[in-house]
Amino acid sequence: MSGPDLRRAAAECAVGLVENGMRLGIGTGSTANVFVALLGERVRAGLDVIGVPTSEATRIACEAAGVRLTTLDETPELDLTIDGTDEIDEALSLIKGGGGALLREKIVAHASRRMVVIADAAKRVPMLGAFPLPIEVNRFGLGSTRGAIETALSRTGSAGALALRKGADGAPFLTDGGHLILDAHLGRIPDAPALSAALWAVPGVVEHGLFIGLATGAILARAEGDTARIERLGAV
Ligand code: A5P
Repeated sequence: MSGPDLRRAAAECAVGLVENGMRLGIGTGSTANVFVALLGERVRAGLDVIGVPTSEATRIACEAAGVRLTTLDETPELDLTIDGTDEIDEALSLIKGGGGALLREKIVAHASRRMVVIADAAKRVPMLGAFPLPIEVNRFGLGSTRGAIETALSRTGSAGALALRKGADGAPFLTDGGHLILDAHLGRIPDAPALSAALWAVPGVVEHGLFIGLATGAILARAEGDTARIERLGAV
C-alpha cells in the first residue's frame, strides 16, 4: 500500500458521506484532489451537489470533474467540508497550509457544519509541530511582522526558525490572496490555543495553519498488508 493508495482509500470513504442536495466545502491538496475526482464520478451518475473550492487549484479541478461550484457570498453556510491535512492530533486539531491554501480552507471550514479530514494515517501525531506551521502574512511590513511573530513564538514556548516560502522559480510563494507565507519550524507546539491567539494578535498576520475546534471528524487510512484499514476519529 503506497501513499497514493492510502489517500485514495480515505477519499473513497469520504465520498460516501456526500448526500444529494449537500452544500460542500472542497479542500486542497493531493488527497482532496482524489476526492474531487471521485465526487465528479458520482455527479456524472446523477448526484446533485454544489461546492465551494478552497483554492484556485481546486476550482480548476472541480470544473474539470464537472462539480457545480458556488461562492460563500451566494451560499454562506455549508453542510460538509472534506479536506486533507498536514498533521492531526487526538483532539482533531490540525496543521494545514502545506499547499498554501490555509486562509480559504479555514474560512470554508468555519462556514461548514461538519469538517471531515481525509489523510494517510501517518499524519496522526501525539503533538502538533513536527510539520512546519504555515503563517500567512501581508507583504507590507514583512520585517516587523517577522520580528513580532518570533516574539509570539518564544512567549508561547514554541521558538523556532522562520523561513519565507519560495515557489519553484525561487521567487517568494504568493497565496491565492496575494500574501506571503512564513513557515515556522517549531518541532513541537505544547500549547496550540495559546500560540494561535498570540499569532492572531500580530498585525500583519493574515492567518495561520493551526485549525483548532474546526474538524468534527477524520478518516485516516493505514496500510495493513496489502489493504488499507480505515480509522475514524470523532463524528464521521
Ligand atoms: C493545503 O493548503 C493543505 O492544507 C493541504 O490540505 C494539506 O497540505 C494536505 O495535502 P495533501 O493531501 O497533499 O497531503
